[in-house]
Amino acid sequence: MINKAKKSLSQAIEERRATPSFDGAPIPSEDLRQILEAGLHAPSGYNMQPWRFVVVQSTEQKRRLRAASYNQGKVEEASAVVVACGDADGWRKDLDLMLELGRKGGMPESYAAQARSSVPNYLSSFSSGQMQAWLNKQVMLALTHMMLMAEVMGYDTAPMEGFEQDKVHEVFRLPLSYWVVALLAIGHAKGTDKFYGGRFEMSHTVFGEEYGKPLKL
Ligand SMILES: Cc1cc2nc3c(=O)[nH]c(=O)nc-3n(C[C@H](O)[C@H](O)[C@H](O)COP(=O)(O)O)c2cc1C
Repeated sequence: MINKAKKSLSQAIEERRATPSFDGAPIPSEDLRQILEAGLHAPSGYNMQPWRFVVVQSTEQKRRLRAASYNQGKVEEASAVVVACGDADGWRKDLDLMLELGRKGGMPESYAAQARSSVPNYLSSFSSGQMQAWLNKQVMLALTHMMLMAEVMGYDTAPMEGFEQDKVHEVFRLPLSYWVVALLAIGHAKGTDKFYGGRFEMSHTVFGEEYGKPLKL
């Protein structure tokens, strides 16, 4: 990976805001590649990598995506919008590929044999709701890697769940097995940053050892 860091990870985490408006300047291909690669490095259940991304940069497709996203202006203003999807059938197609890759990296045969039976056992029993929940977990991790890499590189980002599943499917001619999880707009902010909404105290959301007990640090 090329290193184009402009901020430390802690700085990026602290300074990141969901950007309300972008200036629309195009993003260099090598930067976009670095951001996307960060996403592809994310962990996933059984390393099945069920994520699929459509990267939208053309004026025409951004305009159509905006219409499928409750008319959110930032979709059209961003330099690129990553449409993050999960493929419910990905594991059926990619199990052999995952095992082949793993063997190259030193995956023990015993692990491969176990994965060959447990992946289908686990995933084929899912209802469509369970599959969507499983895909949401995997895909959001990859998208979060992309978001933080973009921020470290000095870009601004906006994650979005405000879109209509069927309409996004139609715009990008997505296969039926795809589930659209979220959008990530990337670019440079226009105007001032959004207010900081604040975060709950750690004592409100983090427990130690069991529910309700304060974590002692
Ligand atoms: C999964 C997800 C979906 C979101 N969807 C939208 C959206 O559709 N439109 C929007 O304006 N903001 C959206 N947001 C931004 C949140 O409102 C924002 O992250 C939150 O208010 C905290 O603000 P901050 O990110 O600037 O700290 C989304 C954030 C996340 C994580």
